This record gives sequence, structure tokens and C-alpha cells, in this order.
Amino acid sequence: MTPARPAIILDCDPGHDDAVAIVLAAHLCDVLGITTVAGNAPLERTTYNARVMRHLLNLDTEVHSGADAPLVVPAAAAGYVHGESGLDGAELPEPTRPVDGTDAVGFIIDTVRTNPGCSLVVTGPMTNVALAITSAPDIVNLVAEISFMGGGTFGNRTTMAEFNLWADPHAAATVVRSGAPLVMAGLDVTHRFQATEPRIAAVRAVGGTLATTLADLFDFFSENYRSRHDDMAGAAVHDPLSVLAVCRPDLFTSTARFVDIVTDGEHTRGMTVIDRRTLLDRPAANCTVLDDVDADAAWQIVVDAVAAATH
Ligand code: BDR
Ligand code: CA
Repeated sequence: MTPARPAIILDCDPGHDDAVAIVLAAHLCDVLGITTVAGNAPLERTTYNARVMRHLLNLDTEVHSGADAPLVVPAAAAGYVHGESGLDGAELPEPTRPVDGTDAVGFIIDTVRTNPGCSLVVTGPMTNVALAITSAPDIVNLVAEISFMGGGTFGNRTTMAEFNLWADPHAAATVVRSGAPLVMAGLDVTHRFQATEPRIAAVRAVGGTLATTLADLFDFFSENYRSRHDDMAGAAVHDPLSVLAVCRPDLFTSTARFVDIVTDGEHTRGMTVIDRRTLLDRPAANCTVLDDVDADAAWQIVVDAVAAATH
């Protein structure tokens, strides 16, 4: 049986792992459009990087740029993880197709309204999606789900906060409190999906420009992670899991939980509050929290996606 191709909008801030999310989305989904946000790098660069990936994949979808700053807190990029370009480590082609628009928020609203039942996959700070929900709350009831990478029971930007939610905590709180069906790929699951050397070699072995570019990106990303952690065999490849959660939910175990986001505090800005109590008197679950992933099967899909886009 041919697996269904869910229709998605991918809102992202490429970023090495966002780039892999685009590769998987092209392989497994009907990509209604890619929207970009400031996050790993300034907006101009995340938008350029999305266009680079579209070019490499020969993907026919629109790219719309969005918010260049968070709702309240100042912008703070993540050059220490992804390099100043957002995609350091590989020689990137010059994309030929220009950006299709600069109103990602309007694009998200219009596209959800004309494609009810589509999913929003969010792999960067949630600024665009929060703005869309605030000006068009009806989209909350039109999406199949908002599948986001962010949060967890521990942090990476600070002790308690994961980068995407820390970068725009007010946007994250708006989205999480919106009533939309949520699927969360937090650090607890994404740290189980690492770009180890054998896995990178499997991508490189596909051959061709896309495979070489991705393998070079993985090498940079993983070397960076290894140099900054004392327990990682390679980079945590966070963002593709939010695509897989929509297209291949069978790869995951998960638990329905109540989740909220803290917007302020020296140690708590961007922290995910996850209600893990078994008390019967607890808030109703608003989020499917991914607990574990079949990492080998998921990585094979990455390799298959690269091969499919190459041959
Ligand atoms: C998240 O932050 C970014 O650096 C990655 O692209 C990912 O979306 C992980 O904390
Ligand atoms: Ca990202």
C-alpha cells in the first residue's frame, strides 16, 4: 500500500537539522510551502538556506520569509551550533529561484484555510505561527496538528530551556495554549536520534551533490556537538523528527500530557512545563509528547530520502 502523503507547511530556521527536515518533507509529504523565521541565524540567512535546500532537492514549493525578530525578547541566533551562516560546513549552491513572498504569516493563514486538514510542522522559534494564530484563530480548528520541535524535561540553551522555545517564549506559549492539537518532539526524544559517524557514512555513500552536501553538513554539526558535550556520539538531529511524527507516527512511542511554557525568569524563560503526574486531578492533556523513536529506522528514511532525490 502506498503510504499517504500528508499535506504540510514547514515553518523553519535552517539550520542543519531543519535542512534535513526539508529533505524528509520533500520525500514523504505534500509540501504546501516553506516559511522561514529568524532563529538559528538572522531571517535573511535562514530564508536563503531554505532556498538552497529547495534548489538542491529540485523541490517545487513556495518559500515565504516571515518574522525577523521574536514577539517580545530580542533576537539571538545560534551561531555557536550552526555557524554564522546557519549552514556552515558545506559548499552550498547558489539558489536560482527567488523567495516567493515576505508574508509568511499571511501565507500560513491562507494556506491552512484553503487546505483544511493540513499539518503545521514547526522547527524553529514559533513567532510566525503565533502571529498567524493571533490574527486568525480559526486556523487552530483547521489544522490536523501542529507538530513542533522544542522543549523537553531538560534544556540546551539554558539549564531548563530548549533553544526554539527560549528564543521566543511568548510565541511558544501562545501556540501551546491555543487549543490546537499538538505533537512535541522535545530534547528527550531528539537526543536519541544522533548523527553518528556510521550514519553519516551511509548518507555519503549514496553519492551525488545532495548526499555529499548533507554529509559535510552532518560532519560539521556532529563535530560541534561532540566538542561541546561529554556524552554524545554525534549531533542530535532534532527537527526531522517533527516531520516523521506526522508522516510516520509508527516510529514513535508517546504520551498525552498537559504542556505549558514559562515566558520569563532567569532560569525558567522558555522552560517546558510537562505534567507527568498520575494524579487523577490534573489538567487535561493538550499535547502528544514523543518519548522514544526507532532511530535506526528513522535514519534509514533519511538515507532513502537522499537516494530518492538523487536518482
Ligand atoms: C533546535 O534549535 C536549533 O538549533 C535546531 O535547529 C533545533 O530546531 C534544537 O534545540
Ligand atoms: Ca530548527
